[in-house]
Amino acid sequence: MALIRAYYKSPDHDFNLIHGDSFELLPQFNFKFDMIFADPPYFLSSGGISVQNGKIVCVDKGDWDKSMSQGEVNAFNLKWLSLCREKLKDNGTIWISGTYHNIFSVANCLTQLGYKILNVITWAKTNPPPNISCRYFTYSTEFIIWARKYEKVPHYYDYELMKHINGDTQMTDVWRLPAIAPWEKSCTKHPTQKPLGLLSRIILASTEPGAWILDPFAGSSTTGIAANLLERRFLGIEKEEKFAAISKARREEIENIKIFETYRRKIPDIVKAEDTQTDMFKCREPEPAMSLPFLDDC
Ligand SMILES: C[S@@+](CC[C@H](N)C(=O)[O-])C[C@H]1O[C@@H](n2cnc3c(N)ncnc32)[C@H](O)[C@@H]1O
Repeated sequence: MALIRAYYKSPDHDFNLIHGDSFELLPQFNFKFDMIFADPPYFLSSGGISVQNGKIVCVDKGDWDKSMSQGEVNAFNLKWLSLCREKLKDNGTIWISGTYHNIFSVANCLTQLGYKILNVITWAKTNPPPNISCRYFTYSTEFIIWARKYEKVPHYYDYELMKHINGDTQMTDVWRLPAIAPWEKSCTKHPTQKPLGLLSRIILASTEPGAWILDPFAGSSTTGIAANLLERRFLGIEKEEKFAAISKARREEIENIKIFETYRRKIPDIVKAEDTQTDMFKCREPEPAMSLPFLDDC
């Protein structure tokens, strides 16, 4: 097995990024992950418009998001979900975000491949952009499907922590969270960047410290930044170099311990988690760096 060249590795080896195509790269290594988060293309870019800061703007995201036929979208989702299943530990889970444009295709593919769907989270955005046509309800939600690899193998869920974060009542599958805040754009912004608050909740709910997390459509690596803020480890794959560069800048930014701590304090779920898991963020003995066995130095 030839070593894959890393685009970037953090000094502690907890953040690893490959620049390339997941469809080609995933079959090239055998490592198994505890959790996968994927924010795949929604195939929405077909010349639509919206309002940003009072101005009408085109909402096309880029060539990677150009509209495709339903058959092509299904084939795309089936392929990458099949490749990801190979990379998941037997008790591992996968989270996939989407809108009504792609999420039903994702759900069908998951079932077809033998995954078991655990929940469909509705992310209700507290600050959605207005609908300028005034002919529809304002789009204010995204969906995130949570599934495990097998029907019968139990998965990890931190029930008590989720309950604590939700004010000591069971966490529901509707999460009212804002879209990204200005401080999350400090290294410039990816056109579909997810908020760190959303990824933090996902990671806290479904992994333990030290877990390995994969994101096959890394973008600006929100998954990796949230993972490292929570002492989890990350491998991201991103096809476009300009987005890989944003990821690297974001990871370098949190090498600064003051920024690292400031960002943690800006994420309400992390602040609440600190109340219960008192040893969670205490300075520990540094663990020996563990390199991914298939990844060459950049
Ligand atoms: C919806 S965005 C992810 C944004 C990310 N969640 C963030 O917070 O920045 C999807 C990303 O997948 C990348 N992409 C699309 N197809 C890919 C492929 N086959 N392999 C790797 N990356 C791909 C795109 O370039 C884009 O940056």
